[in-house]
Amino acid sequence: MIMQYRTINVSASRCYNIHIGRGLLAGIGELVRPLLGHCRLAVLTDSNVDALYGNAMMQYLTSAGYDVCKYVIPAGEASKCAENLLAFLNFLAREQMTRSDAVIAFGGGVVGDLGGLSASLYLRGIKYIQVPTTLLAAVDSSVGGKTAIDIPAGKNLVGSFYQPSMVCCDTALMDTLPAEIYRDGCAEVIKYGMILDAALYDTLHTLPFDREAVVARCVEIKRDVVQQDEFDNGIRGLLNFGHTFGHAIEKLSNFGVSHGEAVAKGMVIAARIAPLCGLCNVADELSALLVEYGFDITCGYSAGEIYDALLSDKKRRGGNISVVLPRAVGDCVLHTIPVEELKELLHKVI
Ligand code: GLY
Repeated sequence: MIMQYRTINVSASRCYNIHIGRGLLAGIGELVRPLLGHCRLAVLTDSNVDALYGNAMMQYLTSAGYDVCKYVIPAGEASKCAENLLAFLNFLAREQMTRSDAVIAFGGGVVGDLGGLSASLYLRGIKYIQVPTTLLAAVDSSVGGKTAIDIPAGKNLVGSFYQPSMVCCDTALMDTLPAEIYRDGCAEVIKYGMILDAALYDTLHTLPFDREAVVARCVEIKRDVVQQDEFDNGIRGLLNFGHTFGHAIEKLSNFGVSHGEAVAKGMVIAARIAPLCGLCNVADELSALLVEYGFDITCGYSAGEIYDALLSDKKRRGGNISVVLPRAVGDCVLHTIPVEELKELLHKVI
């Protein structure tokens, strides 16, 4: 018997439910059964999640009657690589997984991305279920079907759009997250408020926020965006608020600055640029909220360094670049700027 939980339905190239609730992991067998029937399940997880919750996951699935195997990768972004992709695919083959079997990606963004990509490739595609364990994965990477690995030429350069068959988000799993990892997710939550929901943004001033309600609202926002633009040709770009500059900062720091911290810095840069493009000035308001959450919002790099990293990342010289800028709290737009102009703008705000 599963306790109360919320369900958000996504209608994309595959329709699926995102279930969100505290303690939901205990009911995963019940949630999976109507979806997959009797099949084998391959759980992909990382060393941190395995140590904390690996046994519980295996027990919940086996006691629901599933035949389960498990593959554990080392925790950390370095694991989102071609070697692990191939190793996991080989594992699926050794385990004789068939088209009616499924992968369970049990972890944060690295596990979700690697698990999703593996599922999209193995036997030309088998089902997979996302079980996010970080706030960041719950509100962003587990929803919307983007899967990827990093290659030496860059992050997320090899991937696919491949929707999961279900997302099972147990918010209690986030209780054990180190504060800085939880805070990384908060940057994405603040992002959702800024881009599309002023009411959500306002609730974020009260700390700690209601985790289930906030995760559900962020997932609804992402669901609405993905349903309109699953393959990222337009409005889905709004989800990149703070990410264009954030990615440049991550790269310049050799990934020493975490994703959330970099997105926080990137959102502040974008908010400072907005009034210079004739849009409103919410930079002080946004900066104050980010500081409340403990983010260091100083950029840490010069305008020239950010510009160079940004252009090399986008593999472009000349032409225009699209950045997400706030028009107001809860209202962002995609704004196209000639790259030369962006250089000047960066010099004015950093
Ligand atoms: N994380 C951005 C997206 O899913 O489009």
